Amino acid sequence: MQRGEGSQGALDRAARQSPALSPTDRGLATELVYGVLRQQRVLDHWLSGALDRGLQGIDPAALIALRLGLYQLAWLDRVPDHAAIAATIDENRDAIGQGRVGFVNAVLRRLSREQPWTGQAISALPPWIAGRVRDFAAAIGESPDEMERAFEGRAPLHVHVVAPAREGALAALAADGVEVASVGEIPGAFEVVAGSVFAGRLFEHRQLIAQDAASAAVAEWVGAGPGLRVADIAAGRGAKSLFLAAAGAEVTAVDIGQARLDDAEQLAAQSGTPLAGTLAADASSAIDLEPESFDLVLLDAPCSGLGTIRRRPEIRHRRGAVDLYANHGLQLAMARRAADLVRPGGVLIFAVCSFAHEEGPLVVERLLAERPDLQRAPKDDQLKWADPLLDTNGDFRSHPLWYGVDAFYAARLLKK
Ligand SMILES: C[S@@+](CC[C@H](N)C(=O)[O-])C[C@H]1O[C@@H](n2cnc3c(N)ncnc32)[C@H](O)[C@@H]1O
Repeated sequence: MQRGEGSQGALDRAARQSPALSPTDRGLATELVYGVLRQQRVLDHWLSGALDRGLQGIDPAALIALRLGLYQLAWLDRVPDHAAIAATIDENRDAIGQGRVGFVNAVLRRLSREQPWTGQAISALPPWIAGRVRDFAAAIGESPDEMERAFEGRAPLHVHVVAPAREGALAALAADGVEVASVGEIPGAFEVVAGSVFAGRLFEHRQLIAQDAASAAVAEWVGAGPGLRVADIAAGRGAKSLFLAAAGAEVTAVDIGQARLDDAEQLAAQSGTPLAGTLAADASSAIDLEPESFDLVLLDAPCSGLGTIRRRPEIRHRRGAVDLYANHGLQLAMARRAADLVRPGGVLIFAVCSFAHEEGPLVVERLLAERPDLQRAPKDDQLKWADPLLDTNGDFRSHPLWYGVDAFYAARLLKK
């Protein structure tokens, strides 16, 4: 992985560089990358138990090969141990160097005999994240043990269908051999149970995209509709702008990254509902858009991504608790600017893909404390489907114990 690159981006790049890779090999590569990143803490615990000096001073290439081999021994039943060990060494021989091949081979053979995975398990989450997950569960009245297990696991594949294509979507998916299940009552959101959506017509014409149902729910919870002026701040590659525009709204997407906005523009246009405009800007300082000119402003703020660690397992190795405080400051600065764009009577939707208190509820509490022109928006009958996801304040709090969705936080704030 290149510096700052996510696991999905690295896999996509590797696939482009190796076009001859068969779908089976690509699937195995994906499983290994995600699996090793997800279970790295557990793998390292077993490895250090098998080595006299633990992992101290171990060659980085040898360590990666050991993790890859051990993951296959512990988790991939289809591959016999001796074949997994031989393949790991063959694939990594150049990187680990001939002099260390014997060492890697001996350690993997020993672990294959000892089978540490049959013993007491440790958490795959770093302690500071496990602690946060448990606190979050307790705060929303869920079981901390079950919540921690859910965050350690995998996420299902969810798709989100744009509003104009919803009526015929189930029939079109069934005709493509795709079996889906609804995710609560989130409009247009489905879990893919069997078949491949990516070969179908709906995906080809961008009438659906792969999107976690919690992210889909946030886009739907904005309440965009025909004739409404909507600003999507921190729009990224437009995974939410697409649904706002497809609902009939006039959407302006803002992000600090011009390349991301180009992707957002292309995505909405491919889907047949182009964006009204884009603006590359640092949204934590003044945004060059008419103040109080939008009916709805979505701020999908940059955050730690802790709520998405099942989909982006590298996050657990890159973030620390200190990041939450830095993110809090940036989010609050962006929320102030976003609030300035909302017309009186309009709504600001603040959202993050995180369950951390500093990144969600605390930002909203501070914003409300300093802005007497904002208050929590009253419940909207059109958005009743979201009721099972609302906390006692009426804020949106999704989590993997509910239909396996990611953990997002969002609040709807009315400008008086
Ligand atoms: C959570 S992601 C957005 C995801 C996107 N809304 C979606 O649905 O896929 C956060 C985005 O914030 C953008 N960003 C970070 N700092 C920013 C800033 N100061 N001003 C504007 N955008 C910023 C990043 O470029 C990134 O695209």
